[in-house]
Amino acid sequence: MDSEKNLSKPRNSFTSSIGFVLAAAGSAVGLGNIWRFPYLAAKDGGGIFLFIYLILAVTFGFAMLITEVAIGRKTQESPLTAYKKLNSKWSFLGFFSFIVPFIIYPYYCVIGGWVMKYMFTYLAFLGEVTTEEGFFTGFITSQWQPILYTVIFALCCFIIVYKGVERGIERYSKILMPILFLIVVFIAIYSLTLKHTDADGVTRTGLQGASIYFIPNFKGLTFSKLLYIIVDALGQLFYSLSISMGIMVAYGSYMKKENNLGKSVNQIEIFDTGIAILAGMMIIPAVFAFSGTDGMSAGPGLIFITLPKVFLSLGKFGTFIGLIFFVMVMFAAITSAVSILEAIVSSMIDRLHWSRKKAVLVMSSVAFVISIVVCLGYNKFYFEYNLPNGAVAQILDIFDYVSNNILMPVVGLLTCLLIGWVVKPKTIVDEITRNGEHFARKTLYIIMIKFLCPVLLFVILLASFGIFR
Ligand code: PHE
Repeated sequence: MDSEKNLSKPRNSFTSSIGFVLAAAGSAVGLGNIWRFPYLAAKDGGGIFLFIYLILAVTFGFAMLITEVAIGRKTQESPLTAYKKLNSKWSFLGFFSFIVPFIIYPYYCVIGGWVMKYMFTYLAFLGEVTTEEGFFTGFITSQWQPILYTVIFALCCFIIVYKGVERGIERYSKILMPILFLIVVFIAIYSLTLKHTDADGVTRTGLQGASIYFIPNFKGLTFSKLLYIIVDALGQLFYSLSISMGIMVAYGSYMKKENNLGKSVNQIEIFDTGIAILAGMMIIPAVFAFSGTDGMSAGPGLIFITLPKVFLSLGKFGTFIGLIFFVMVMFAAITSAVSILEAIVSSMIDRLHWSRKKAVLVMSSVAFVISIVVCLGYNKFYFEYNLPNGAVAQILDIFDYVSNNILMPVVGLLTCLLIGWVVKPKTIVDEITRNGEHFARKTLYIIMIKFLCPVLLFVILLASFGIFR
């Protein structure tokens, strides 16, 4: 019954090119841009990191992203079934790229739940309590609260994906992404105007912070450190563009054949990189003004522990900034989570011929059970595990490590081998130029996908095993 319904229906699609670009940018812009990018830039010599990141974005990032979108649009299939259509021996790659979002989604919802908690706290004018000692740890280690907020977050994603591609994903991305952009610009400008004198009488300004961010710091730069920065930038780029997890294949399959694929991919990259750079302008100057360079190496605590303190010290207006900040982070997290769920759901629709409703319902429920286990990783199931890259991990970190550090580079690497050497880059080039479009970076693309991307992906994989430590 389901299958008949499905086969007779034309494939969903984004109604416009801008709809596709905003949805894909919604996937790409997430916590990676807002938290991870600024933190890496501050750690890795400011301008040096930015420069390396930009070069990699227009070469490596571009090649990987355009490949996935083109695979989706060419095959008109979801990740689970697309690779098989390209070459019948490669269906295992479809399976891998289906597994990745399936591992990521449950824990992404848990982090989304944390953001939800902060957003509601600020909404209730209680922002101040988030700065109390141990607030964040107390919250994530409690038994029920993280589960409750995860439910709320997962429900939002459920509703959007349930509504479908046009009425759900496209419509919400078109509303949320422009608002997100405006908020980031607003806070970035505000952050540059900050000035703060600490207890020791030292005055620091937001502008000084911005100079640390933009001006390359060559002090103590050695060859091995440079290598490190390159690996950081590569890993960040990979994560930030949402590549190698089937998402861009799924979204590409909803892109209209008459739209300009190359141009859309450029726009997604500009949006994603632009928001990352702006996020740095928003966070680094503010944190620098309040706590100098020390405050910037705070890792994940940056958003949940350091920033609330900055907001508090800005008085009433700071609480307002805190509120719009968490609303913005929420939008970024929801549009990313929605794309992960869509990658899973579309695979079920195409492979098992389930209806969208059934696929969303079943897969959300399964993911939710796993989310609960992840939440309890900080409570009932708490343990400490040492990862090969040196980090001490709980369940969430292990999921994150396995998906981002191992499976994603493997999927990326295999995709390059499939496209570069088995089905040949011409397949992708033909898809990009199918309406007679000019593909300016064609030669660069072919070199990247055949030779350089696989090498760079292999480097990421080695780094995951702590080789460069
Ligand atoms: N690309 C998102 C970011 O930059 C992260 C993400 C990961 C999105 C996995 C979807 C899936 O934060």
